[in-house]
Amino acid sequence: MEQTPLEPAARAAAALARGDLVGLPTETVYGLGADATQADAVAKIFAAKGRPHFNPLISHVASLEAAEALGVFSPLARKMAHAFWPGPLSLVVPRQADCAVCDLACAGLDTIALRVPAHPLMQEVLRAFGKPVAAPSANISGRPSPTTADHVRAEFGDRLALVLDGGPSAVGLESAVVAVLGDRATLLRLGGLTREALEAVAGPLLTPDASAKAAPASPGMILRHYAPQAPVRLNATHAQPGEVMIGFGPGYEGAAFNLSPSGDLAEAAAHLFAMLRAADALNPTAIVIAPIPKTGLGEAIADRLARAADRSC
Ligand code: TXA
Ligand code: MG
Repeated sequence: MEQTPLEPAARAAAALARGDLVGLPTETVYGLGADATQADAVAKIFAAKGRPHFNPLISHVASLEAAEALGVFSPLARKMAHAFWPGPLSLVVPRQADCAVCDLACAGLDTIALRVPAHPLMQEVLRAFGKPVAAPSANISGRPSPTTADHVRAEFGDRLALVLDGGPSAVGLESAVVAVLGDRATLLRLGGLTREALEAVAGPLLTPDASAKAAPASPGMILRHYAPQAPVRLNATHAQPGEVMIGFGPGYEGAAFNLSPSGDLAEAAAHLFAMLRAADALNPTAIVIAPIPKTGLGEAIADRLARAADRSC
């Protein structure tokens, strides 16, 4: 008897249930997904990415209701979830006593990062799977995050059971990570939501305790990250021979790439990682990047670029 082929989302859910790794589209960047409740499956994520085990993963669920089964939501956490979910916000909240996510995914912490992504295909996967999906960005640790299915395949080849193609990621920057413990909201990572948008709902955001160097509040915020092979030079207006220029706004007609010819920061965010990868593929002596205003999403873009340019570790 002939079997009806499964829909892509159902195939992804079946692979997750088997404990396999799956490349998954989200509106921020592509994720490298595994069943968050299976420690063996989650271990494959750390191995494939070369990710340090002290760096916890975000668990993705279909709804706030599913998130509340895993984490403890204060009134402020619930207010932020209502305002921004589904969407590019990850909330770090205390774990529920009977939280089904394995300790490895949370790096042994008593908090958990949760996100309800908006991408319709990812939503379909989460609903079909019915369990939390642990998913960091689908790149080798330290490299630029992937914003297309091809980036994910280039990164991991046949180590993945499946890469689900949901088109280019619309936002292009990872989620903003905000810890909400009681009525205090701390911005752990800038991302696909502006500080202004977050603060309009949460009030002024705290910054992580700089004195906590030994155990950074967001273990993922180690400096060098998002980095291409080539050195990156920031705030430059011209490329030297052998260098590749990434412009921003008008006046970069000769540049190989332009994040947004009209100077639109949302468009620049969406193009950032793909252009870093494409520029790197040309094997330049350096990638030089035009000045970008640090307002709105420009603040998160500046954060990613500073890490991409950092050579100190
Ligand atoms: O947009 C995104 O957030 C993407 C897509 C796939 O959802 N995911 C992503 O995951 O960027 P990842 O693993 O690359 O970044 C997760 C960040 C890390 O900086 C990690 O340290 C932090 O969230 N994080 C996770 N759990 C945490 C916790 N319990 N406490 C503090 N920080 C946490
Ligand atoms: Mg990442």
